[in-house]
Formats: sequence, structure tokens, C-alpha cells
Amino acid sequence: MKVFDKTPLEGVKHTIVVASGKGGVGKSTVSANLAMTLADKGYKVALVDADIYGPSIPKIFDVENERPCLSVKADKDGMMDPIQKYGVKINSLGFFADKGKSIVWRGPMASNAITQLFTQTYWDDIDYMIIDFPPGTGDIQITAVQKFEIDGAIVVTTPQELSLNDARKGTEMLTNENIHIPLIGVVENMSWFTPLQHPDEKYFIFGKNGGQTLADEFSVPLLAQIPLIKEVGELAEQGKAFSALDNKDLKLVFEQLAEVVVAFCEEKK
Ligand SMILES: Nc1ncnc2c1ncn2[C@@H]1O[C@H](COP(=O)(O)OP(=O)(O)OP(=O)(O)O)[C@@H](O)[C@H]1O
Ligand SMILES: [Mg+2]
Repeated sequence: MKVFDKTPLEGVKHTIVVASGKGGVGKSTVSANLAMTLADKGYKVALVDADIYGPSIPKIFDVENERPCLSVKADKDGMMDPIQKYGVKINSLGFFADKGKSIVWRGPMASNAITQLFTQTYWDDIDYMIIDFPPGTGDIQITAVQKFEIDGAIVVTTPQELSLNDARKGTEMLTNENIHIPLIGVVENMSWFTPLQHPDEKYFIFGKNGGQTLADEFSVPLLAQIPLIKEVGELAEQGKAFSALDNKDLKLVFEQLAEVVVAFCEEKK
């Protein structure tokens, strides 16, 4: 049953959301690296930071001080050109917020803001749009999934049971019969840690099997397991993107994830 009138986004072929009910599990890290990997493969990629209360994409891409300008190419007035970095076209409310100040908006304002981010940006000729969701199942997520045509969702979780409960709620919101976004699969992040001195060992710091358990519950594949990598946090602290493309193990993980996304969208066409 189709309950909501969902609008396809002009200029965008495929839209993928990266979600989890839980905060801090790596949604932005996965979104950013998936976007960079797809761009590296030659696709035209957009990344929307839908986390309007705690936008981290401008920081990850080191473009915090940039501001999208009004587009002269768009044939509609008031459209913004996205910021481009590493071959990815980005827009985020983080570009418009005062640095260091938190955004305090009630539901309807948040819903309007997220709608504008999608509809007032000149997304010209995009193959894949990746949407980095905020944690939880609030107004922003509900607006985005009710209003726009989304091809599929990737759910990120860490292996522990606590993270799983929230990820489960987030997944249920996406897949319920009114919203009905197809689940591509689960990505388990921070799966283990391998010290440099012991390259053959895996320490399961946050437990084991959480990603597989969630994937089994929703009958979808576990798409990837991403280990804890020291540089990810270190680079984020310096306001720089961790690029999986510079790490041979993670490059492979994200290339496989990108291939799954492409195959999923092709099949859906
Ligand atoms: N595999 C990893 N190894 C090490 N650090 C990681 C890894 N994945 C993410 N991190 C770090 O964990 C923190 C949270 O990651 P990230 O911001 O991607 O999560 P999030 O789910 O988007 O968080 P939020 O819910 O606040 O939006 C960041 O500091 C990030 O650099
Ligand atoms: Mg985030």
C-alpha cells in the first residue's frame, strides 16, 4: 500500500540512505567513504548531510568554512550549488550554522530545513545520492522518507547488543508498511581491532555478531564488517576525511559495498 506521495528528486537517478537508530556508530564515516568510493569509480555522486542538529560531513570533508552559492546554472531562482570535494557534491545545514553554535529547531522547522536542502540544491546529473541520516527516528528522518523517493537503505550498527536495539528501531521505521524503503543490508562498524604489532589477531572490543544478528532479523545480507582503525578518529579530530581509498583493506571493503549498491540500483530499475 502506498500511503505517501513521494517526489523523485530532479537530476538524481538513485538515492540511498545510510541510517541507524543509534548515534556514533559510524553513519557519517560510512556515508562519506561510500560517496568517495563511488566517485572514484567514475559515478557522479551527491552527499546530503541530513543530520541538521549535529552535521559532521563539512568537518569530515574539511570544507567547514565554505558556503554554497546561489546557482547561476539552475533555471529556477534561489537554487544553491553544492560544495564539491573529492569528486562529491555536498550540501549540509552545517554550512549555514554558526560555527560552534548548536541548532535548536522544533519539528516543523527541521522538516522545512531538510526539505529545502533536498529541493533547493541544484543536483545536476547525479548517479547516486547518499543521505547521511541523524541518529534516532525523529522529524528529519520521517520527513525525508515520507517526501522523497528513496531507492534503498543501509543500516549501520556496532556489534554490541545495546547498539542493536536502537538500530532495530531505526530499521523498523524504514521498513514499516507505510514507508517501505527496501533494505540493502547491514554494515557492522568497529567490528574488531587489530594492533599493528599483531597483524594476525582480532580483538572484539565491542562484542561479536551484532551485524549478522540484525541482518538475519530483517532477512538481508551483512554487507561489510569494518574494523576499528586508529586513523579514522585521529583524522576526524583534525577535521579531515578518513579516505578508505588510502587504506588497502578498507578500500576493498568500500569497493565491495559500492558494487552492491550499484547492483541493487541496477536491479531495481
Ligand atoms: N571504523 C572506525 N574506526 C575508528 N573510529 C571510527 C570508525 N568509525 C567511526 N569512527 C569514529 O567514531 C566517531 C563516530 O563516527 P561517525 O561520526 O561516523 O558516527 P555517526 O553514526 O555518524 O555519529 P552521529 O550519530 O553523531 O551522527 C567519529 O569520531 C569517527 O571518526
Ligand atoms: Mg553522523
